[in-house]
Amino acid sequence: MKQNDIEDIIEDRFHGSACVCGAISTLQYPLLPEEDEYVQKCVLKRRMEFTAGRTAARMAMKKLDIAPTAIPRGEKNNPIWPWTLIGSISHCDNTCLCVIADKTKYSSIGVDIEELHRVQLELFPSIFSNDEITVLNKLQNEDLAFHATAGFSIKEAFYKFQYPITRQWLGFKDVEVVVSSDKISLEIVSKAKIKNILPKYDCFFYSRNNLVVTGVFACR
Ligand SMILES: CC(C)(COP(=O)(O)OP(=O)(O)OC[C@H]1O[C@@H](n2cnc3c(N)ncnc32)[C@H](O)[C@@H]1OP(=O)(O)O)[C@@H](O)C(=O)NCCC(=O)NCCS
Repeated sequence: MKQNDIEDIIEDRFHGSACVCGAISTLQYPLLPEEDEYVQKCVLKRRMEFTAGRTAARMAMKKLDIAPTAIPRGEKNNPIWPWTLIGSISHCDNTCLCVIADKTKYSSIGVDIEELHRVQLELFPSIFSNDEITVLNKLQNEDLAFHATAGFSIKEAFYKFQYPITRQWLGFKDVEVVVSSDKISLEIVSKAKIKNILPKYDCFFYSRNNLVVTGVFACR
């Protein structure tokens, strides 16, 4: 797959954003000192995916003419962006995705990238509500794989989207997803009070070959 497809689609969807998507093995520029301390304790796979996220973020900054800046880790693993930016990072086995945008245009963004078939049947009860499982049970083969992967992925994207605003934990069953062939939407179904403090948000997905990319964002 030509990964720049993903960059083009996302940059088109978020006007004024910059996206970098590439193989983890190729996104391995040196970390900045504020970031380096954390990876010293990590196994190689984690070091490489963390480094890929920071490399992709600085390549995205370059696209927006922003000087390369460190992105330390926050108290819940959330990336801490320079104060003019919002952004989000995701990695799957081989690929890393980072999107950044101007804070004056967007309140928050969350993205996620997954390989198709990532979500096997035995994981459904911990990720999906009974209503969601009823819908999934009517699907088969590639349709089922796509809906399950996109549903899981958008929940993770939503978590990354909401955390910088609410600083709260949300479980998979606190939100419910509806996926169709051309649209994806998500709503908070728990009694979580965060509903009242989140801005109006939009969801999107893009799927090509073996990858599913999802995102949640709110404009100012
Ligand atoms: C945090 C979580 C969403 C990350 O998703 P993942 O598929 O494991 O991993 P991804 O590669 O897609 O994303 C990892 C990146 O997410 C970002 N991230 C982690 N915690 C975050 C948070 N609290 N807020 C925002 N971004 C966060 C980081 O940039 C991280 O990469 P890095 O450590 O290299 O910087 C996931 O591990 C998790 O805890 N999920 C449970 C909560 C949830 O998803 N609820 C769903 C309903 S809202």
